[in-house]
Amino acid sequence: MNIQWYPGHMTKAKRMMEEDIKLIDLVIELVDARLPLSSRNPDIDNLAKNKSRLILLNKSDLADERVNNMWSDYFKEKGFFVFKLDARSGSGMKAINSIIQEACKEKIERDRKRGILNRPVRAMVAGIPNVGKSTFINSYAKKACTKTGNKPGVTKGKQWIKLSKGLELLDTPGILWPKFEDQEVGLRLAISGSINDDILNISELSLELIKMLLKDYPGKLAERYDIDETMTPVNILEAVAIKRGCLKKGELVDLDKAANIIIDEFRAGKIGRITLEKP
Ligand code: G4P
Repeated sequence: MNIQWYPGHMTKAKRMMEEDIKLIDLVIELVDARLPLSSRNPDIDNLAKNKSRLILLNKSDLADERVNNMWSDYFKEKGFFVFKLDARSGSGMKAINSIIQEACKEKIERDRKRGILNRPVRAMVAGIPNVGKSTFINSYAKKACTKTGNKPGVTKGKQWIKLSKGLELLDTPGILWPKFEDQEVGLRLAISGSINDDILNISELSLELIKMLLKDYPGKLAERYDIDETMTPVNILEAVAIKRGCLKKGELVDLDKAANIIIDEFRAGKIGRITLEKP
């Protein structure tokens, strides 16, 4: 399967990110908890050199809790502040505040030593498309959503959301471009829904997902679809088509329809809380 991305968008996104990042102290990077490495772009480490760093393992409600904890430890060991998040439910937003304060402490202390008191910490949200940036900004900013507008020293047109006395958030997130060179990475991104479905072969994609589930989460497919997991992936797809009544004219099974069901149900968390890659 050959998965394509659009280089034009990438170049523009990168340029924007490079500009915005100059203005901020803290990068709040969202990754997809189901595929924390595949859903991040390591270029950010270079772009965000010398900034405080917080990684939000978003969509953690869809991911395997045991593996969430493994990833949390993994990133903490690398020196990031980490928080497991479900931006859609918006729970845990208070806890994020204290971790953000923690992440900013160094900068606040540095300012204090230089006699600068109460200068707000400026943060920006970054991540690949669909990882939940807007959802997070909306639910996080709900409590205090005063736009502070253009301030001296801030590039014209930038809008800052004042979250508290000490914290301002850039209202437009930085868009990172996924690393597609590795087909395995592209595959996980496609399965999770980070890539536009129109350019994908859905049956092929579902067969890859079935293979992953049989290997790492035995029993989940059998439980959801009442099928025999000792069959080949193609036969499993056919069995799902029959169970769900996916038929074409002439009593033929509609494999694409069954594939769509499996992919949609995976993305909605109906097959279970599943993580596609481990540290
Ligand atoms: P983006 O700005 O990074 O591009 O992502 P956005 O916030 O638009 O979120 C993309 C999709 O991911 C949305 O679903 C959103 O609801 C969902 N989402 C974001 N955070 C979480 C989370 O923590 N858990 C879960 N389960 N889903 C999350 P959508 O299908 O595009 O819209 P809708 O179904 O919410 O209407």
